[in-house]
Amino acid sequence: MKRLIKKTNDGSHTVFHDDLKESFHSSFGALTESKHVFIQSGLLYFNKPELTLLEIGLGTGLNTLLTGLEAEKKFIKINYYAVEKYPLEDSILTALNYPEILGPDSEQLFKKIHEIPWGEICQISDYFNLKKMKIDLLKLNLKERFDLIYFDAFSPEVQPEMWDKTNFQKIIKAMNPGGILTTYSSKGSVRRTLAAVGFKLERIPGPPGKREMLRAWLPAN
Ligand SMILES: C[S@@+](CC[C@H](N)C(=O)[O-])C[C@H]1O[C@@H](n2cnc3c(N)ncnc32)[C@H](O)[C@@H]1O
Repeated sequence: MKRLIKKTNDGSHTVFHDDLKESFHSSFGALTESKHVFIQSGLLYFNKPELTLLEIGLGTGLNTLLTGLEAEKKFIKINYYAVEKYPLEDSILTALNYPEILGPDSEQLFKKIHEIPWGEICQISDYFNLKKMKIDLLKLNLKERFDLIYFDAFSPEVQPEMWDKTNFQKIIKAMNPGGILTTYSSKGSVRRTLAAVGFKLERIPGPPGKREMLRAWLPAN
């Protein structure tokens, strides 16, 4: 599996998966996309003082890092679960320029995110607990109940099985009523599948380069 670092338009790095011919983030800006799709449209929109979150595809750890920083800044107590089937190699993780861009507070946090062992819930900072799960999401039995899902799988074109009804049925069953899922895709087939398993949907403006993205929620009753 060949994966290489590339620079996106806002100066932040992404990883390019050479076999799939797909990047982990938008070429218009990895950091900009993460902030828009997951932080602004998910975490800050949800706006609760305490929550349990599942990220689908830990990858570089960029969403995790941004969430950890917000947790400390806004005093949001977060239990963060991140699933990853194919962890990135250390040579890539240590070369990513996120701490350089985000400043000194992010440096220790980013290191800890990648240094903690897999499979254990670890306290990363006062407000941020993290459990990294090295497993195939499709085989994972989700035991926790989540308030927020960052659905950041590869696109439906390259990984259709991640976006199918069976997978979303499993995800919605693992959510608390009133919970939210955000994703960068607003494809018609994704919208239909999410609606078919019981999500209510909102199409909202996407990050640069994308007209729309999706926020889906599980009605409170
Ligand atoms: C679009 S990338 C996003 C990564 C990450 N959120 C980031 O900001 O770097 C998708 C991620 O999902 C992971 N992945 C692919 N198939 C998976 C599976 N079946 N279960 C869990 N993770 C998977 C990939 O290895 C990759 O890290």
